[in-house]
Amino acid sequence: MNKMIKGSLAVAHEAFDDGTEVRVRPQAGGTDARPVVSVHDLAMRYGDDEPVIEGVSLEVREGEVVSLVGPSGSGKSTILRAISGLHAPLSGKVDLGIPATEMGFLFQDDALLPWRTARDNVALGLRLHGKPVGGARQEAGEWMARLGLKGFELRYPRQLSGGQRKRVALAQVLALKPRLLLMDEPFASLDAIVRHRVTQDLLDWVEREGIAVLLVTHDLEEAQALSDVVNLLSQGPRARISHRYPVEIPRPRDLIGVRGHPTFAPLLQRIWKDLSVEVEEATANR
Ligand SMILES: Nc1ncnc2c1ncn2[C@@H]1O[C@H](COP(=O)(O)OP(=O)(O)OP(=O)(O)O)[C@@H](O)[C@H]1O
Ligand SMILES: [Mg+2]
Repeated sequence: MNKMIKGSLAVAHEAFDDGTEVRVRPQAGGTDARPVVSVHDLAMRYGDDEPVIEGVSLEVREGEVVSLVGPSGSGKSTILRAISGLHAPLSGKVDLGIPATEMGFLFQDDALLPWRTARDNVALGLRLHGKPVGGARQEAGEWMARLGLKGFELRYPRQLSGGQRKRVALAQVLALKPRLLLMDEPFASLDAIVRHRVTQDLLDWVEREGIAVLLVTHDLEEAQALSDVVNLLSQGPRARISHRYPVEIPRPRDLIGVRGHPTFAPLLQRIWKDLSVEVEEATANR
């Protein structure tokens, strides 16, 4: 049984051939799926400046992938900072349906420790959660193998490519079996092929384990391909969620196939149009 699972959440488990036990994805966004995080009427500001965001409400339920898109500087990262507890709200609140220790973060710049091997970087979180060094290393090695990093265990971050480092960072986060994953442009620096592979790996794990995800991205196609709901943030200051688009594409999804779904292109066009209007209005008001 997964020791990280706490609280009263009843989630089914399934064993895989490699001995991994994973949560079975609850129905994404189903009415019986519980919120993992709820943001109510949130306003945030830095210092005495005008609020960056205001009146922002959103919810991510068990097994649901929700994304946040919007103009640069509108406050997407700020919303993640509020949820992660790094920055206190001016008003409104963030309710977590899980212990804060079960949140995982994957940010644009990976935070690997340069003086530790890749495997010890992955093992670090497990060690902090009290696992003895031998067990943590073994588990870290298994996670690396699952993410295509077999043979790279003893390399240092500087000896890895950007895509490999991103996979190490992903292994580090997934090894802790988070129930909520906050991601801020995690794959932006990767080239198209590597980005596709790493994102598909992530999507597979998220779908298999029923991890709730809140993803910030500038890539509207990526947002739609991965998400159950895409939220569009208006231009700041005092940015709000101006549109919310449900994505009705069945899971499991593959990143290529999903683009051929009949609803994909029309919705993408709509989001582009709405985003362009936000940016044009803001430019006209300047
Ligand atoms: N530490 C800070 N101090 C002062 N202002 C800040 C700070 N961090 C962010 N801001 C401002 O808050 C606003 C929102 O920033 P945020 O980083 O949340 O935007 P974003 O939507 O994530 O943008 P991007 O897409 O470019 O990453 C911006 O105007 C930014 O300049
Ligand atoms: Mg940002």
